Amino acid sequence: MRIAVLGAGGFLGSHLVPALLARTEAEIEAVDVTFGKLAPTGDRVRRVQARLDRPGLVDEITGACEVVVSLTAICNPAVYNRDPLAVIDASYTDLVPLVKACAERRRWLVHFSTCEVYGRLALDTEGRPSERMHEDATGLFLGPVDKERWSYACAKQLLERVIYAHGAHAGLPFTIVRPFNVIGPRMDWLPDVDGEGVPRVLAAFMGALLRGQPLPLVDGGEQRRCFISVEDFVGGVLRILERPQACQGQILNLGNPANDVSIRVLAELLRQTYALVVPGAPVPGVVEVSAEELYGPGYDDSRERIPDIEKAERLTGWRPTTSLAAMLPAIVEDYVARYAPLLQRGQAAAR
Ligand code: UGA
Repeated sequence: MRIAVLGAGGFLGSHLVPALLARTEAEIEAVDVTFGKLAPTGDRVRRVQARLDRPGLVDEITGACEVVVSLTAICNPAVYNRDPLAVIDASYTDLVPLVKACAERRRWLVHFSTCEVYGRLALDTEGRPSERMHEDATGLFLGPVDKERWSYACAKQLLERVIYAHGAHAGLPFTIVRPFNVIGPRMDWLPDVDGEGVPRVLAAFMGALLRGQPLPLVDGGEQRRCFISVEDFVGGVLRILERPQACQGQILNLGNPANDVSIRVLAELLRQTYALVVPGAPVPGVVEVSAEELYGPGYDDSRERIPDIEKAERLTGWRPTTSLAAMLPAIVEDYVARYAPLLQRGQAAAR
Protein backbone atom coordinates (compact mmCIF):
# COMPACT_ATOMS: atom_id res chain seq x y z
CA MET A 1 0.00 0.00 0.00
CA ARG A 2 1.24 3.46 -0.86
CA ILE A 3 -0.04 6.51 1.01
CA ALA A 4 0.52 10.11 -0.01
CA VAL A 5 0.76 12.57 2.86
CA LEU A 6 0.35 16.11 1.56
CA GLY A 7 1.71 18.58 4.09
CA ALA A 8 3.97 15.91 5.61
CA GLY A 9 6.48 18.50 6.80
CA GLY A 10 4.04 20.44 8.99
CA PHE A 11 3.03 19.97 12.62
CA LEU A 12 0.48 17.18 12.10
CA GLY A 13 2.41 15.53 9.27
CA SER A 14 5.58 15.38 11.33
CA HIS A 15 3.69 13.29 13.91
CA LEU A 16 1.60 11.27 11.47
CA VAL A 17 4.39 10.05 9.16
CA PRO A 18 6.47 8.37 11.93
CA ALA A 19 3.27 6.81 13.35
CA LEU A 20 2.36 5.41 9.91
CA LEU A 21 5.83 3.93 9.60
CA ALA A 22 5.60 2.34 13.04
CA ARG A 23 2.05 1.02 12.73
CA THR A 24 1.71 0.05 9.06
CA GLU A 25 3.75 -1.50 6.24
CA ALA A 26 2.88 1.39 3.93
CA GLU A 27 5.24 3.19 1.61
CA ILE A 28 4.79 6.94 1.91
CA GLU A 29 5.00 9.78 -0.57
CA ALA A 30 5.66 12.75 1.71
CA VAL A 31 4.90 16.03 -0.05
CA ASP A 32 5.62 19.50 1.29
CA VAL A 33 7.47 22.72 0.52
CA THR A 34 9.71 22.28 3.58
CA PHE A 35 10.59 19.31 5.76
CA GLY A 36 12.14 21.13 8.69
CA LYS A 37 9.85 19.46 11.25
CA LEU A 38 10.01 15.91 9.88
CA ALA A 39 12.89 13.91 11.36
CA PRO A 40 14.79 11.43 9.12
CA THR A 41 12.39 8.69 8.13
CA GLY A 42 14.28 6.02 6.16
CA ASP A 43 13.68 4.43 2.79
CA ARG A 44 9.94 3.76 3.05
CA VAL A 45 9.39 7.50 2.70
CA ARG A 46 9.93 9.38 -0.54
CA ARG A 47 10.14 13.11 0.06
CA VAL A 48 8.74 15.30 -2.69
CA GLN A 49 9.58 18.95 -2.14
CA ALA A 50 6.93 20.84 -4.08
CA ARG A 51 3.82 22.95 -3.91
CA LEU A 52 0.65 21.09 -4.66
CA ASP A 53 -0.01 23.22 -7.72
CA ARG A 54 3.25 22.12 -9.41
CA PRO A 55 2.17 20.93 -12.87
CA GLY A 56 1.82 17.14 -12.96
CA LEU A 57 2.13 16.58 -9.21
CA VAL A 58 -1.51 15.71 -8.49
CA ASP A 59 -1.48 13.31 -11.42
CA GLU A 60 1.74 11.70 -10.18
CA ILE A 61 0.45 11.28 -6.63
CA THR A 62 -2.96 9.92 -7.52
CA GLY A 63 -1.35 7.61 -10.07
CA ALA A 64 1.01 6.12 -7.49
CA CYS A 65 -0.96 6.07 -4.20
CA GLU A 66 -4.13 4.26 -3.15
CA VAL A 67 -4.73 6.64 -0.24
CA VAL A 68 -4.21 10.41 -0.20
CA VAL A 69 -4.07 12.17 3.17
CA SER A 70 -4.39 15.90 2.59
CA LEU A 71 -3.17 18.16 5.37
CA THR A 72 -2.07 21.25 3.49
CA ALA A 73 -3.57 24.56 4.65
CA ILE A 74 -2.70 27.97 6.01
CA CYS A 75 -4.01 27.13 9.46
CA ASN A 76 -3.41 30.40 11.29
CA PRO A 77 -6.23 32.79 12.30
CA ALA A 78 -3.89 35.81 12.13
CA VAL A 79 -3.71 35.32 8.36
CA TYR A 80 -7.41 34.71 7.61
CA ASN A 81 -8.30 38.42 7.67
CA ARG A 82 -4.88 39.72 6.52
CA ASP A 83 -4.38 37.54 3.45
CA PRO A 84 -7.72 35.86 2.76
CA LEU A 85 -7.01 35.30 -0.93
CA ALA A 86 -4.00 33.12 -0.15
CA VAL A 87 -6.02 31.33 2.54
CA ILE A 88 -8.92 30.62 0.18
CA ASP A 89 -6.58 29.35 -2.54
CA ALA A 90 -4.70 27.06 -0.16
CA SER A 91 -7.90 25.70 1.41
CA TYR A 92 -10.05 25.49 -1.68
CA THR A 93 -8.80 26.47 -5.15
CA ASP A 94 -5.55 24.49 -5.05
CA LEU A 95 -7.33 21.39 -3.75
CA VAL A 96 -10.22 21.07 -6.21
CA PRO A 97 -8.01 19.37 -8.84
CA LEU A 98 -6.91 16.87 -6.18
CA VAL A 99 -10.52 15.99 -5.35
CA LYS A 100 -11.33 15.49 -9.02
CA ALA A 101 -8.24 13.33 -9.63
CA CYS A 102 -9.00 11.17 -6.58
CA ALA A 103 -12.58 10.71 -7.80
CA GLU A 104 -11.49 9.76 -11.32
CA ARG A 105 -8.98 7.21 -10.04
CA ARG A 106 -11.08 6.05 -7.06
CA ARG A 107 -8.36 6.95 -4.56
CA TRP A 108 -9.40 7.24 -0.91
CA LEU A 109 -9.11 10.91 -0.04
CA VAL A 110 -8.69 11.46 3.70
CA HIS A 111 -9.05 15.20 3.89
CA PHE A 112 -8.31 17.28 6.97
CA SER A 113 -10.85 20.03 7.27
CA THR A 114 -11.34 22.02 10.48
CA CYS A 115 -13.57 22.49 13.53
CA GLU A 116 -13.66 26.10 12.38
CA VAL A 117 -16.40 25.16 9.85
CA TYR A 118 -18.85 25.11 12.79
CA GLY A 119 -18.20 28.81 13.23
CA ARG A 120 -18.92 30.95 16.26
CA LEU A 121 -20.71 28.39 18.46
CA ALA A 122 -22.78 25.21 18.31
CA LEU A 123 -26.29 25.67 16.94
CA ASP A 124 -28.56 22.90 15.72
CA THR A 125 -30.00 23.07 12.22
CA GLU A 126 -32.96 25.09 13.55
CA GLY A 127 -30.55 27.64 15.04
CA ARG A 128 -31.06 26.55 18.65
CA PRO A 129 -27.97 26.51 20.91
CA SER A 130 -26.55 23.07 21.62
CA GLU A 131 -23.62 22.03 23.75
CA ARG A 132 -21.56 19.99 21.32
CA MET A 133 -20.68 20.19 17.66
CA HIS A 134 -21.97 17.16 15.79
CA GLU A 135 -20.87 16.33 12.25
CA ASP A 136 -24.36 15.70 10.88
CA ALA A 137 -26.65 17.59 13.25
CA THR A 138 -25.00 20.98 13.83
CA GLY A 139 -25.51 23.99 11.60
CA LEU A 140 -22.50 25.94 10.36
CA PHE A 141 -22.69 29.46 11.78
CA LEU A 142 -20.14 31.81 10.24
CA GLY A 143 -19.98 35.56 10.80
CA PRO A 144 -20.66 38.27 8.20
CA VAL A 145 -18.47 38.55 5.11
CA ASP A 146 -16.70 41.68 6.37
CA LYS A 147 -15.47 39.54 9.28
CA GLU A 148 -12.77 38.03 7.09
CA ARG A 149 -11.79 35.67 9.89
CA TRP A 150 -14.34 33.31 8.36
CA SER A 151 -12.68 33.20 4.93
CA TYR A 152 -10.81 30.06 6.01
CA ALA A 153 -13.88 28.32 7.48
CA CYS A 154 -15.95 29.19 4.41
CA ALA A 155 -13.30 27.90 1.98
CA LYS A 156 -12.88 24.73 4.04
CA GLN A 157 -16.65 24.26 4.14
CA LEU A 158 -16.95 24.67 0.38
CA LEU A 159 -14.21 22.10 -0.19
CA GLU A 160 -16.03 19.72 2.17
CA ARG A 161 -19.13 20.18 0.02
CA VAL A 162 -17.14 19.53 -3.16
CA ILE A 163 -15.68 16.36 -1.64
CA TYR A 164 -19.06 15.22 -0.36
CA ALA A 165 -20.67 15.81 -3.76
CA HIS A 166 -17.92 13.84 -5.50
CA GLY A 167 -18.58 11.05 -3.00
CA ALA A 168 -22.32 11.09 -3.50
CA HIS A 169 -22.37 11.60 -7.27
CA ALA A 170 -18.97 10.74 -8.76
CA GLY A 171 -17.69 7.69 -6.89
CA LEU A 172 -15.06 9.34 -4.67
CA PRO A 173 -14.12 7.30 -1.60
CA PHE A 174 -13.54 9.97 1.04
CA THR A 175 -13.31 10.70 4.73
CA ILE A 176 -13.35 14.24 6.10
CA VAL A 177 -11.64 14.77 9.46
CA ARG A 178 -12.40 17.86 11.53
CA PRO A 179 -9.57 18.37 14.06
CA PHE A 180 -10.34 20.32 17.24
CA ASN A 181 -7.33 22.24 18.57
CA VAL A 182 -4.59 19.64 18.39
CA ILE A 183 -1.53 20.62 20.43
CA GLY A 184 1.92 19.15 20.89
CA PRO A 185 5.59 19.56 20.13
CA ARG A 186 6.48 21.36 16.87
CA MET A 187 3.21 23.26 16.64
CA ASP A 188 3.57 26.51 14.68
CA TRP A 189 6.63 28.71 15.30
CA LEU A 190 7.90 31.50 17.54
CA PRO A 191 7.71 35.01 16.06
CA ASP A 192 11.12 36.36 14.96
CA VAL A 193 12.76 33.00 15.65
CA ASP A 194 11.43 30.60 13.03
CA GLY A 195 8.44 32.50 11.67
CA GLU A 196 6.65 35.83 11.49
CA GLY A 197 3.28 37.07 12.69
CA VAL A 198 0.98 35.76 15.42
CA PRO A 199 1.06 31.97 15.85
CA ARG A 200 -1.79 29.96 17.37
CA VAL A 201 -2.36 30.24 21.07
CA LEU A 202 -0.01 27.52 22.34
CA ALA A 203 3.02 28.88 20.50
CA ALA A 204 2.00 32.47 21.28
CA PHE A 205 1.92 31.73 25.01
CA MET A 206 5.13 29.67 24.94
CA GLY A 207 6.92 32.47 23.10
CA ALA A 208 5.79 34.95 25.74
CA LEU A 209 6.86 32.67 28.61
CA LEU A 210 10.29 32.05 27.09
CA ARG A 211 10.83 35.78 26.57
CA GLY A 212 9.54 36.67 30.04
CA GLN A 213 6.76 38.77 28.51
CA PRO A 214 3.10 38.76 29.59
CA LEU A 215 0.83 36.28 27.85
CA PRO A 216 -1.60 38.18 25.57
CA LEU A 217 -5.22 37.30 26.41
CA VAL A 218 -7.51 38.28 23.56
CA ASP A 219 -10.74 39.96 24.71
CA GLY A 220 -10.35 38.72 28.29
CA GLY A 221 -9.61 35.07 27.46
CA GLU A 222 -13.14 33.84 28.17
CA GLN A 223 -13.33 31.99 24.81
CA ARG A 224 -13.17 28.25 25.27
CA ARG A 225 -11.41 25.48 23.37
CA CYS A 226 -11.06 21.71 23.81
CA PHE A 227 -7.42 20.78 23.37
CA ILE A 228 -6.39 17.31 22.24
CA SER A 229 -2.88 15.90 22.41
CA VAL A 230 -1.29 15.21 19.06
CA GLU A 231 -0.63 11.61 20.15
CA ASP A 232 -4.34 10.99 20.84
CA PHE A 233 -5.19 12.71 17.58
CA VAL A 234 -2.78 10.65 15.48
CA GLY A 235 -4.16 7.52 17.18
CA GLY A 236 -7.59 8.50 15.84
CA VAL A 237 -6.25 9.07 12.32
CA LEU A 238 -4.58 5.63 12.31
CA ARG A 239 -7.85 4.02 13.41
CA ILE A 240 -9.62 5.71 10.51
CA LEU A 241 -6.99 4.54 8.03
CA GLU A 242 -7.35 0.98 9.32
CA ARG A 243 -11.13 1.05 8.80
CA PRO A 244 -11.95 2.15 5.26
CA GLN A 245 -15.32 0.40 5.17
CA ALA A 246 -16.59 2.04 8.32
CA CYS A 247 -15.11 5.48 7.66
CA GLN A 248 -15.56 6.11 3.96
CA GLY A 249 -18.34 8.56 3.18
CA GLN A 250 -18.11 10.01 6.70
CA ILE A 251 -17.21 13.32 8.30
CA LEU A 252 -15.54 12.73 11.67
CA ASN A 253 -14.71 15.09 14.53
CA LEU A 254 -11.44 14.29 16.27
CA GLY A 255 -11.06 16.20 19.51
CA ASN A 256 -11.23 15.79 23.26
CA PRO A 257 -14.42 17.14 24.85
CA ALA A 258 -13.03 16.44 28.33
CA ASN A 259 -10.35 19.12 27.88
CA ASP A 260 -12.74 22.09 27.59
CA VAL A 261 -11.08 25.19 29.10
CA SER A 262 -11.11 28.94 28.69
CA ILE A 263 -8.03 30.53 27.14
CA ARG A 264 -7.45 32.27 30.48
CA VAL A 265 -7.25 28.87 32.19
CA LEU A 266 -4.90 27.59 29.48
CA ALA A 267 -2.62 30.56 30.19
CA GLU A 268 -2.67 29.79 33.90
CA LEU A 269 -1.92 26.08 33.36
CA LEU A 270 0.98 26.94 31.04
CA ARG A 271 2.38 29.42 33.55
CA GLN A 272 2.26 26.79 36.29
CA THR A 273 3.80 24.12 34.06
CA TYR A 274 6.55 26.47 32.93
CA ALA A 275 7.43 27.23 36.56
CA LEU A 276 7.83 23.49 37.23
CA VAL A 277 9.81 22.77 34.04
CA VAL A 278 12.18 25.73 34.45
CA PRO A 279 12.57 26.16 38.21
CA GLY A 280 13.65 29.64 39.20
CA ALA A 281 12.78 31.24 35.84
CA PRO A 282 10.70 34.42 36.09
CA VAL A 283 7.09 33.59 35.22
CA PRO A 284 5.33 36.49 33.50
CA GLY A 285 1.64 37.27 34.11
CA VAL A 286 -1.06 37.90 31.53
CA VAL A 287 -2.06 41.06 29.69
CA GLU A 288 -5.47 41.71 28.15
CA VAL A 289 -5.35 42.81 24.52
CA SER A 290 -8.16 43.54 22.11
CA ALA A 291 -8.60 41.32 19.07
CA GLU A 292 -8.21 44.43 16.90
CA GLU A 293 -4.80 45.16 18.45
CA LEU A 294 -3.48 41.65 17.92
CA TYR A 295 -5.09 40.66 14.66
CA GLY A 296 -6.24 43.88 12.99
CA PRO A 297 -9.72 44.55 11.54
CA GLY A 298 -11.91 41.70 10.35
CA TYR A 299 -11.02 39.23 13.10
CA ASP A 300 -13.85 37.38 14.83
CA ASP A 301 -13.81 34.42 17.19
CA SER A 302 -15.42 31.13 18.10
CA ARG A 303 -16.89 31.48 21.57
CA GLU A 304 -16.60 27.78 22.39
CA ARG A 305 -16.05 24.53 20.53
CA ILE A 306 -16.89 21.20 22.08
CA PRO A 307 -16.72 18.23 19.72
CA ASP A 308 -19.25 15.43 19.77
CA ILE A 309 -17.00 12.41 19.16
CA GLU A 310 -19.62 9.69 19.48
CA LYS A 311 -19.41 8.88 15.76
CA ALA A 312 -15.62 8.52 15.70
CA GLU A 313 -15.77 6.36 18.84
CA ARG A 314 -18.51 4.15 17.43
CA LEU A 315 -16.97 3.65 13.99
CA THR A 316 -13.35 3.23 15.03
CA GLY A 317 -13.25 2.27 18.72
CA TRP A 318 -11.01 5.29 19.31
CA ARG A 319 -11.17 7.43 22.42
CA PRO A 320 -8.79 10.21 23.47
CA THR A 321 -7.35 9.68 26.93
CA THR A 322 -4.86 12.43 27.74
CA SER A 323 -5.93 15.29 30.00
CA LEU A 324 -4.62 18.80 29.44
CA ALA A 325 -2.70 18.67 32.72
CA ALA A 326 -1.05 15.41 31.67
CA MET A 327 0.00 16.60 28.22
CA LEU A 328 1.38 20.04 29.08
CA PRO A 329 4.68 19.10 30.79
CA ALA A 330 6.09 17.27 27.74
CA ILE A 331 4.92 20.04 25.43
CA VAL A 332 6.47 22.79 27.54
CA GLU A 333 9.70 20.78 27.89
CA ASP A 334 9.89 20.46 24.11
CA TYR A 335 9.41 24.20 23.52
CA VAL A 336 12.00 25.02 26.18
CA ALA A 337 14.53 22.55 24.77
CA ARG A 338 14.06 23.74 21.20
CA TYR A 339 13.72 27.48 21.66
CA ALA A 340 15.48 28.59 24.86
CA PRO A 341 18.99 28.17 23.29
CA LEU A 342 17.91 30.01 20.11
CA LEU A 343 16.43 32.90 22.12
CA GLN A 344 19.55 33.14 24.30
CA ARG A 345 21.76 33.23 21.22
CA GLY A 346 19.54 35.94 19.70
CA GLN A 347 19.67 38.02 22.89
CA ALA A 348 23.48 37.65 23.08
CA ALA A 349 23.82 38.74 19.43
CA ALA A 350 21.63 41.80 20.08
CA ARG A 351 23.84 42.95 23.01
C1 UGA B 1 -7.38 27.76 14.82
C2 UGA B 1 -7.75 27.45 13.38
O1 UGA B 1 -8.40 28.50 12.79
C3 UGA B 1 -8.61 26.23 13.29
O2 UGA B 1 -8.88 25.92 11.95
C4 UGA B 1 -7.88 25.08 13.87
O3 UGA B 1 -8.69 23.95 13.79
C5 UGA B 1 -7.55 25.42 15.31
O4 UGA B 1 -6.79 26.62 15.37
C6 UGA B 1 -6.70 24.32 15.87
O5 UGA B 1 -5.63 24.55 16.37
O6 UGA B 1 -7.18 23.18 15.75
P1 UGA B 1 -8.38 28.91 16.98
O7 UGA B 1 -8.72 27.89 18.00
O8 UGA B 1 -9.20 30.15 17.04
O9 UGA B 1 -8.49 28.24 15.54
O10 UGA B 1 -6.83 29.30 17.06
P2 UGA B 1 -5.85 30.00 18.09
O11 UGA B 1 -5.10 31.03 17.32
O12 UGA B 1 -5.04 28.95 18.74
O13 UGA B 1 -6.76 30.76 19.13
C7 UGA B 1 -7.42 30.16 20.20
C8 UGA B 1 -7.98 31.25 21.08
O14 UGA B 1 -6.90 31.89 21.77
C9 UGA B 1 -8.71 32.38 20.34
O15 UGA B 1 -9.83 32.76 21.09
C10 UGA B 1 -7.70 33.52 20.30
O16 UGA B 1 -8.31 34.79 20.24
C11 UGA B 1 -6.95 33.29 21.59
N1 UGA B 1 -5.54 33.79 21.60
C12 UGA B 1 -4.70 33.48 20.60
C13 UGA B 1 -5.11 34.57 22.64
O17 UGA B 1 -5.88 34.88 23.61
N2 UGA B 1 -3.83 35.04 22.65
C14 UGA B 1 -2.95 34.76 21.65
O18 UGA B 1 -1.80 35.23 21.71
C15 UGA B 1 -3.40 33.95 20.60
